Amino acid sequence: MYNVKIIGAGSIGNHLAHASRSLGWHVTLCDVDQAALDRTQFQIYPTRYGSWDEAITLMLVDDAPRGAFDLIIVGTPPDSHLPLALEALKENPKALLIEKPLCSPSLDGAETLKTRVSESNTLAFVGYDHVVGKAAQETSLASKQLQSIETIDVEFREHWGGIFAAHPWLKGPQDTYLGFWNRGGGASGEHSHAINLWQFFATQLEKGRIIEVSATLEYVKTEDVDYDKLCLLHFKTEAGLIGRVVQDVITSPARKWARIQGANGYVELTIGHEPGIDRVNWKINQDDVQSRTIHKTRPDDFIWELQNIDSVLSGKENTSAISLERGLETMMVVSAAHLSESKKRTVRINYEKGYIPQALELL
Ligand SMILES: NC(=O)c1ccc[n+]([C@@H]2O[C@H](COP(=O)([O-])OP(=O)(O)OC[C@H]3O[C@@H](n4cnc5c(N)ncnc54)[C@H](O)[C@@H]3O)[C@@H](O)[C@H]2O)c1
Repeated sequence: MYNVKIIGAGSIGNHLAHASRSLGWHVTLCDVDQAALDRTQFQIYPTRYGSWDEAITLMLVDDAPRGAFDLIIVGTPPDSHLPLALEALKENPKALLIEKPLCSPSLDGAETLKTRVSESNTLAFVGYDHVVGKAAQETSLASKQLQSIETIDVEFREHWGGIFAAHPWLKGPQDTYLGFWNRGGGASGEHSHAINLWQFFATQLEKGRIIEVSATLEYVKTEDVDYDKLCLLHFKTEAGLIGRVVQDVITSPARKWARIQGANGYVELTIGHEPGIDRVNWKINQDDVQSRTIHKTRPDDFIWELQNIDSVLSGKENTSAISLERGLETMMVVSAAHLSESKKRTVRINYEKGYIPQALELL
């Protein structure tokens, strides 16, 4: 049983509190805002999961104990992640889970976090839960039958009305980081699961990291907001693989989809093929199309994510698809996308320089 502290009692804080409780772990859920703690107890948690769980300790951040936790989760807006993560590291937890996107596209603090984690005894993870979900794992497994990978495509296109429906206390993107790309919002940050999933498949297929990004973004800029609503990305990896990602906050109904094309066939993933069902289809050589359906609930996403962390902490696995390095790589691509759009140039990511803006070079 782990002792878990969750910082941020918003949407994700509630999901991860529930997932932790489902695994029998002890939870302290904290926030800077008393209204968020009240909303958790009386609105979000009972509405989502049927009833409030009296075993969860709710606290203002300043009142929460320090140093007594196995796992600390940072579930606040992206531009606050790194200062909070650096503070959390001082508590010496066994594991630190930081929500996605890891930080704002400025990359402020990213390299410092990487260094501090490597000097600590803490294992750090970034909350890209899709890559540790069963559908992505099935897709990856089926793709091993492909010979000579031609290209990978991933799309996470979803109107963000659903997010605001789940946050009825927000009037719209202007009330939160979501309305500001430079705080980690907009399509590039919010749906960066797509970039991360693309990187996961490319890595599994031994195609290396993304080293070139060319992007076209469409921004909405008014007195109240400044975000990208559409983010179109082309990539090249260390092994020369070329592929594409689309992320947007305007498509309805949503389309969350991936396809890996090989010389001898394809594998295709549809997330939310039907409500509560993900589907993986594949056709290899002259065989019939095969498919697998994965039934899952929203809580499963976060239970599987925490189980992945548990399996690394307990030594059952020695690497994780949601490691800090993978989250940092995704952040470099998000940052490169904004630079590519602003300069109308392809951006090369030079990982040798570290996770800093100077590692993004114009081609
Ligand atoms: N993996 C996923 O599928 C998933 C799903 C939802 C959200 N997220 C991510 O989780 C993060 C939070 O999103 P959300 O929807 O829960 O936001 P939210 O606005 O619902 O909640 C954030 C909470 O953090 C609190 N907060 C802000 N600064 C704080 C601080 N310094 N210390 C303590 N609490 C603080 C706020 O008061 C608020 O209650 C984002 O990075 C988002 O992208 C991930």
